[in-house]
Amino acid sequence: EEIAQKDKNIVLIGFMGVGKTTIGQHLAKKIGRDFIDVDAQIEQKYGMPVTQIFQSLGEKAFRQMEKDYILDVCSNSQHKIISLGGGAFLQDEIKNICLSTSNVVYLNISWETWKQRLHLIIDSRPILQNKSMEEIEQLFYTRQNSYSSNHASVNIDGLGFEEAADHLIQTLDL
Ligand code: S3P
Repeated sequence: EEIAQKDKNIVLIGFMGVGKTTIGQHLAKKIGRDFIDVDAQIEQKYGMPVTQIFQSLGEKAFRQMEKDYILDVCSNSQHKIISLGGGAFLQDEIKNICLSTSNVVYLNISWETWKQRLHLIIDSRPILQNKSMEEIEQLFYTRQNSYSSNHASVNIDGLGFEEAADHLIQTLDL
């Protein structure tokens, strides 16, 4: 049955390391909702960090886990704030269920801003290993195609994580 707009999950998407998790945590606290981080849930469920899942079982296995988890959480929960991994929208099934059940919000930052944060996240992101800066930049732009769709998009350039959460509350009227 149809979920009322105010009860729908808010699903945060965007490239690796833009701050989906931290912003999601701030947002959840500020507007009094529960927060779910998909990667953290997968790590807990399978008992290993995402890097190790990639290493031992491979990306394909991770994508399957990611799809199973997101399809389940989107079908069976409401009123949550949910942060997805940056590659989740590469799978159409994930994209479709999120768009049909939830309010999807794309967190957008510029390449210039993102580049400055790369050193903070590179070790924990298997997708970024063994890539040149040019290849990473290429990935940054090609991935944007998987996000651009029928959903809200908010630019958070220059904002701290808590400021970004406030900005979402204002611009999306949460
Ligand atoms: C990935 C992004 C990561 C994590 C995995 C793969 C990707 O999540 O799901 O390392 O393909 O973009 P974050 O967006 O939280 O870094």
